Amino acid sequence: MSDTWKEKLYEPAGELVQVDNVNYVGHEPVIEGEELITIDGVDLDYHGKTGPIKALENITFNIYPREFICVLGPSGCGKSTLLKILAGFINPTAGSVKLDGEEIVGTDWHRGVVFQHPPLYEWFSVRTNVAFGPKMRGLPKEEYEPLVEEYIDKVKLTEFADKKIYELSGGMKQRVSIARALINNPEILLMDEPFGALDALTRESVQDLTRQIWWDTGKTIFFITHDVEEALLLASRIIVLSKHPGRVIEDIQVNFSRQIIEDGATDLKFSPEFYKYREMLLRLINSQE
Ligand SMILES: Nc1ncnc2c1ncn2[C@@H]1O[C@H](COP(=O)(O)OP(=O)(O)OP(=O)(O)O)[C@@H](O)[C@H]1O
Ligand SMILES: [Mg+2]
Repeated sequence: MSDTWKEKLYEPAGELVQVDNVNYVGHEPVIEGEELITIDGVDLDYHGKTGPIKALENITFNIYPREFICVLGPSGCGKSTLLKILAGFINPTAGSVKLDGEEIVGTDWHRGVVFQHPPLYEWFSVRTNVAFGPKMRGLPKEEYEPLVEEYIDKVKLTEFADKKIYELSGGMKQRVSIARALINNPEILLMDEPFGALDALTRESVQDLTRQIWWDTGKTIFFITHDVEEALLLASRIIVLSKHPGRVIEDIQVNFSRQIIEDGATDLKFSPEFYKYREMLLRLINSQE
């Protein structure tokens, strides 16, 4: 794969355009006409006991290949709901969601999901868990076995490949979960607060690993978090949802993750630029509560 996407993804942001009080900056198509996912006028109503509960309202944006999108927003604003729609677990009440021009209906191997508490097979080994997807899809053993080793290596678990899941730490389990999703070569990786339950040090190391895997593989990632710093350290683009019912209130391109990868900028967190974005996003989210 050519690496030009890395340049294109971070082309200097275009003019700041305000539409309905949302700042749209430079999220031009990474490659013109190459939308991976189009989300158009999506509403989602849940059936509450006393009537419908609107969780999402008129969500419209496109996802381009190889973007690392982080979604921020106050608790209950509909982040997980949006991810569930992209995964195909639930259908929008109104509007449409298309992948490669086709309406998303039901779950599919092409959309890998990583949750906060990964549903792994606790009594099986790392290797068996990672092999699960390709095995179930009926791939021949000689085809998937090398892939299993490759992805276990990608998440740096080679020396733990024979360990059972219950013998692993939380961070290791998340790495298994990432390998298990990636081995299916999904068109998009959907991650719902995957590192929310980890301690700070472990979280930092899986963030570094995820950023590097994204950069090396060019996978498109849709990542939910309520941690502004996490979003700034990982994303190529950040989308902020309003409080319940969720609407898009900010959509910006950021390039801290690129700087970390290309310049090894480990102390970026302490830069005035980082501080400025952090404050801006925090203020925006807090103003919603
Ligand atoms: N199955 C359901 N039935 C009814 N209401 C639901 C259901 N799932 C979610 N909701 C409601 O929809 C809204 C959005 O929920 P969602 O889980 O998407 O929020 P979230 O942004 O992921 O929150 P958090 O940050 O706490 O994870 C909330 O008001 C929630 O109570
Ligand atoms: Mg959630």
